[in-house]
Amino acid sequence: MKSILLSLPLLPLVSAGTVLWSGLFNEDFTVADFDTWSWSNQIPPYQWYIHGTAPTASYLAVSADSKNPNSTLAGDAQGLRLTLDNTSSWNGQTMMRTELIPQIEGDVDLGSGVVNYHFSLGVPDEIPGAELEHQIAFFESHFTELKYGGSDSTNLTFYAGGAAHYSIPLTAGVWYNFAYNIDFDAGSVSLYTSTGGDDLEQVVEGVSVDAQTNSADWHVGVLRLDNATPGVGGVEEWDWSGVRVEGGDVTLGV
Ligand SMILES: *[C@@H]1O[C@H](CO)[C@@H](O)[C@H](O)[C@H]1NC(C)=O
Ligand SMILES: *[C@@H]1O[C@H](CO)[C@@H](O)[C@H](O)[C@H]1NC(C)=O
Ligand SMILES: *[C@@H]1O[C@H](CO)[C@@H](O)[C@H](O)[C@H]1NC(C)=O
Repeated sequence: MKSILLSLPLLPLVSAGTVLWSGLFNEDFTVADFDTWSWSNQIPPYQWYIHGTAPTASYLAVSADSKNPNSTLAGDAQGLRLTLDNTSSWNGQTMMRTELIPQIEGDVDLGSGVVNYHFSLGVPDEIPGAELEHQIAFFESHFTELKYGGSDSTNLTFYAGGAAHYSIPLTAGVWYNFAYNIDFDAGSVSLYTSTGGDDLEQVVEGVSVDAQTNSADWHVGVLRLDNATPGVGGVEEWDWSGVRVEGGDVTLGV
């Protein structure tokens, strides 16, 4: 009896902050580590294949300067600076793309039950040109994503099920924290967001979507629709921080 009672608090219930996959960078991670991933060596944390023809270091950099300074996450020592330029065409496409994909380990499932996709996004110096549409932090089927530019002008706008549900002006030097709260079984998504070090708050509730992922199609990056003129959008930088996927309730603290 006694041992049963003692073991109760240790039951492996899924609760807030149960990390299913972590894309955080510890102090030892360097840009060279991205290149150790390949289709024949699929090691966490990231798949790295959607990018242009220049060396990895022209598209990705990791440093403490690129993380949300308000982050209190354990093991979150560095952030990611992601660059798009006019060499960022992947596979001859006219779109410019620099995108990482979670590389899971074993049979982890990022696509059933309630799953929270967390990330913080910022631009360091100046906001990117807004003439061209950008698709950010999107799933392959685009059931949930952020957009910037195009009809969204200089706003970061949350789309779910193909419609805009929340929009906020993008300001350089501000950290925008997001969690996509996705119920893959019910087919719905809610959005939690904040800026800086503030706790996340729900701003969009329960949009009905065709929620699906194969656990390897969340694009942690930016796709810019350069249309017929690759590179016309020039050079731009986006900072990413606190990227991870959790089960259970949304972790509200940054
Ligand atoms: C790409 O950008 C570089 C530097 O910004 C510039 O020198 C070059 O002409 C551009 N190339 C094209 C094809 O636009
Ligand atoms: C940008 O966001 C602001 C604030 O939410 C909103 O008032 C405005 O309509 C948005 N603009 C566009 C083009 O979506
Ligand atoms: C931390 O977040 C607060 C707002 O929550 C903001 O005022 C402050 O500038 C942030 N600190 C840094 C170093 O960015």
